[in-house]
Amino acid sequence: MNQTTNDNRHNVNAPPLRVERITKQFRQGNVTIDALKGVSLSIERGQFVAVMGASGSGKSTLLHVMAGLTRPEEGRILVDGQDLAQMPDRELTLFRRRRIGLVFQAFNLIPTLTARDNILLPVLADGRSGMADGQLTELLDRLGLSDRARHRPDALSGGEQQRVAIARAILSSPSIILADEPTGSLDSVTGQGICQLLQQLCREQGRTIVMVTHEPAVAVWAERIVVLRDGQVLTEFPAEESRDVHRLAARYQDIVGAAPAGVPSVS
Ligand SMILES: Nc1ncnc2c1ncn2[C@@H]1O[C@H](COP(=O)(O)OP(=O)(O)OP(=O)(O)O)[C@@H](O)[C@H]1O
Ligand SMILES: [Mg+2]
Repeated sequence: MNQTTNDNRHNVNAPPLRVERITKQFRQGNVTIDALKGVSLSIERGQFVAVMGASGSGKSTLLHVMAGLTRPEEGRILVDGQDLAQMPDRELTLFRRRRIGLVFQAFNLIPTLTARDNILLPVLADGRSGMADGQLTELLDRLGLSDRARHRPDALSGGEQQRVAIARAILSSPSIILADEPTGSLDSVTGQGICQLLQQLCREQGRTIVMVTHEPAVAVWAERIVVLRDGQVLTEFPAEESRDVHRLAARYQDIVGAAPAGVPSVS
């Protein structure tokens, strides 16, 4: 199936991203882990959504399912109306490359490639080398990576590797960006800069972003905050109730039962 066929089926009226009653289990020997237990979520075009939740609550698994990297046992993953769960592997790879930018929690950079080549890889793999150079220079500058572009990942700090992973997800101009703790290795000033960039991509370019984070100071940038617990959506905070980081932290602590990262403790 080629990309032209994919684009012809693009349904502009469908929500860009919707998951319906997703279940996902992992089996290790005779132990079964229910990582997602019937998660449903519908995300509008241009929306910036944060997903919070304790460690092990299923955040990364949900992001991987949304990206079509992990197939769920049950449920549908609709991207522009097309169900990723039903898509053959090769078609899914092409679809993901063009439509979805993914920032992995563990960065997943290729160790033998320079920062620049890591960032360019998805664009080159898609045969779109021509459009990338000017945008790449601008993005490297914006992310403070201009003088690190020729270094391989092992010569970069954790925060620099994280910014390379973010640049790689953004450069190919995907309509959906899925970012797993994209500020987890950054100092707070750099992290706030990344949040601002992601917010701009939504507001000015209509990108749809789902960002996993533990940090209220990061989540406050989103329009919606979805909280997972034990593989289920526990609750959701609308933006108007979540603009103040200390209020959000207190609320989050109340329902999750643990102090969140990145803010002074609230009592
Ligand atoms: N490949 C796997 N094999 C077995 N169990 C897994 C696998 N991936 C995730 N799990 C389990 O599924 C549950 C959800 O994991 P997930 O990585 O989605 O959590 P998370 O919310 O992203 O946590 P964290 O905040 O620590 O990144 C956990 O209990 C985890 O141990
Ligand atoms: Mg995770």
